[in-house]
Amino acid sequence: MPKKNHSLIIGGTRGMGRVLAGHLAKAGHRVSVIGRREPSPKLPRGIHFFSADLTQTDKLPEVLGEVVRIGGSLSRLVCLQRFKVAPGDAWLGEVATTLTATKIVIESLAEKFAAHGDRSIVLVSSVAAHLVASEQGPGYHVAKAGLNQLARYYAVILGPKNIRVNVVSPGTVLKPENRDFYRGAESLQTMFRKTVPLGRMGTAQEVASVIDFLGGPAASFVTGQTLLVDGGVNLVAPETLARLLAG
Ligand SMILES: NC(=O)c1ccc[n+]([C@@H]2O[C@H](COP(=O)([O-])OP(=O)(O)OC[C@H]3O[C@@H](n4cnc5c(N)ncnc54)[C@H](OP(=O)(O)O)[C@@H]3O)[C@@H](O)[C@H]2O)c1
Repeated sequence: MPKKNHSLIIGGTRGMGRVLAGHLAKAGHRVSVIGRREPSPKLPRGIHFFSADLTQTDKLPEVLGEVVRIGGSLSRLVCLQRFKVAPGDAWLGEVATTLTATKIVIESLAEKFAAHGDRSIVLVSSVAAHLVASEQGPGYHVAKAGLNQLARYYAVILGPKNIRVNVVSPGTVLKPENRDFYRGAESLQTMFRKTVPLGRMGTAQEVASVIDFLGGPAASFVTGQTLLVDGGVNLVAPETLARLLAG
């Protein structure tokens, strides 16, 4: 009987991370998630919550050690955490939460992957890594652009250890927490229908499936790549978008 995969999801307590945790648990993984606050509602069985603030970097190695001690060697690491604007400097918060924490997590865990089976890292970025989304600040853009390059760097550095590192870049996504807001916003729905080639928003479940694909055996010779999950909207020229909206 093969041993269970152990997947760690940083930011797996809510939003897309929580949907991914459920997806991997259903597929038979042992799943550990890290966030600051206790998940609410409670996580389904088979998903183990560890509380940590990623910006408290001196405490991170201890928590990560505990994750491996309890859950076993890692098969997959997914970093989905997102800085939420709070009192303080958003620039420093974005860089600390997205970049510094991800670097420390990867370096702390690089020697903790299981000898056999999946050995993969997926970082969740955004189309704001290469386009300008004016609803987000400069820190978000720079941190996500840096994250993409961090993935390419570690793809090369960790390749000899047979650890693959890839990026998933979603467009705007429907998740349980924002579903009611978007469903009730008729003008936004019309905008997505007109501008996205696939005619709608993506869902957290669709992003989770792509993260699962990139982290798993079906992508065993893929590393250092960024996969956009945006229904094709990145392909549409700005002028065409303007015409579609005006029409
Ligand atoms: N939602 C979208 O439409 C969209 C679009 C493009 C890209 N993305 C990207 O997709 C990822 C997931 O987005 P989401 O909207 O699902 O995020 P979310 O609902 O805001 O969840 C963020 C997760 O990160 C954790 N987190 C944040 N700061 C932390 C810290 N300092 N220490 C530990 N954990 C921390 C949160 O837990 P606590 O709050 O308890 O700490 C939570 O589990 C993000 O990287 C985001 O940039 C999202």
